[in-house]
Amino acid sequence: MTDVLIKNVRLYGEGEPVDVLLADGEIRQIGAGLNAADAEIVEGAGQYLLPGFIDLHTHLREPGREDTETIDSGSAAAALGGYTAVFAMANTNPVADSAVVTDHVWRRGQEVGLVDVYPVGAVTVGLQGKQLAEMGTMAQSVGAVRMFSDDGHCVYDPLIMRRALEYANSLGVLIAQHAEEPRLTEGAVAHEGPTAARLGLAGWPRAAEESIVARDALLARDAGARVHICHASTAGTVELLKWAKAQGISITAEVTPHHLLLDDSRLETYDAVNRVNPPLRESSDVAALRQALAEGVIDCVATDHAPHAEQDKCCEFAAARPGMLGLETALSIIVETMVRPGLLDWRGVAKVMSENPARIAGLVDQGRPLEVGEPANLVLIDPDAEWTVRSKDLASIANNTPFESMTLPAKVTSTFLRGAITARDGKVLAGEARRAGNRGGP
Ligand code: NCD
Ligand code: ZN
Repeated sequence: MTDVLIKNVRLYGEGEPVDVLLADGEIRQIGAGLNAADAEIVEGAGQYLLPGFIDLHTHLREPGREDTETIDSGSAAAALGGYTAVFAMANTNPVADSAVVTDHVWRRGQEVGLVDVYPVGAVTVGLQGKQLAEMGTMAQSVGAVRMFSDDGHCVYDPLIMRRALEYANSLGVLIAQHAEEPRLTEGAVAHEGPTAARLGLAGWPRAAEESIVARDALLARDAGARVHICHASTAGTVELLKWAKAQGISITAEVTPHHLLLDDSRLETYDAVNRVNPPLRESSDVAALRQALAEGVIDCVATDHAPHAEQDKCCEFAAARPGMLGLETALSIIVETMVRPGLLDWRGVAKVMSENPARIAGLVDQGRPLEVGEPANLVLIDPDAEWTVRSKDLASIANNTPFESMTLPAKVTSTFLRGAITARDGKVLAGEARRAGNRGGP
């Protein structure tokens, strides 16, 4: 594999520009005026180098809905978005509730070679919430599942959730909960509040999320287990996370880029591109989520990248499927909502998009410091670039981005997986770079 020499780049956007040599999948040298005869040169002047991003919440739709996304197309979207690892949710068809499916996802991700695709296993058989799936078998199989979630559905039965947490604890794996009390959201399509009431949309109250967050914090406490909250969306959830962390409960949480930027005023047009679970909330929730991410009450950003077909989105609001694309726009939305307003610096971006998710998922080769000898899983960013989102230009098969036509700050210029360039200047690399990405184990 060709060595890569990144010239004149600022690490974490700090200090003087340096050169960074990548060889044999690692950061080999960092210094001024480096030379390497056969290395491919990547000019980094005016750009920042960060550890590659990790997405704990991606829907890749393979198997079952390859008309909307595949492991191939989703990996391309991830590489272009600066990601070096993604966790593929279990709500596929068939559901990833057995090692047959989770191993396929892992193997196919390695074959594509653009990003490490970690399969998420279902907590319960068929996401039905009734019977625990064979978590141990999935954890010990080739795909070595380290995160389990019924995402799309809540593990609503408290006894099942309690057992899942106990098993997860003994297996050393993580349960990620889609917090939604289903009895409180029957028929709901939008955040319960004045906007939904005026528009005649059935409401999804904050309490549906918060009651599960509170319950699961207590269950995790009693099981001595860890629990991770998917897509936190309300100010009340933030208060509960603060409380639980102050008690010493092992709880972590993610927030999506869309919940950091958009609120329910977007629903005025009835455009179903804005339908998502949990729903877009109010501007006061958005402010609380930003503050919580800045303060570390919410640990990380996760995209909840949820591709859907045209016919499932271009229809009446209540009939549309919930979900939004996210992989290729995440960094720009974080810069817009967190860096520009001064809530996070670039080291903070590295924390919430790379270091913290790697730690939560227990990945030892991701989210590492930018130091000699560390794995070269990296992202190069032009902080001064601006670009306009056009869904037709995105690598995802589906088009359901809520950010269409928005002009956003910052652009990923290159992504490196174990020292190989996986994306550069808006293009996914093939050939040697792809194959070189195939060496890692789970
Ligand atoms: C997700 C999907 O489409 O799979 N949809 C969504 O609105 N977020 C499921 C989920 O993450 O809950
Ligand atoms: Zn969910």
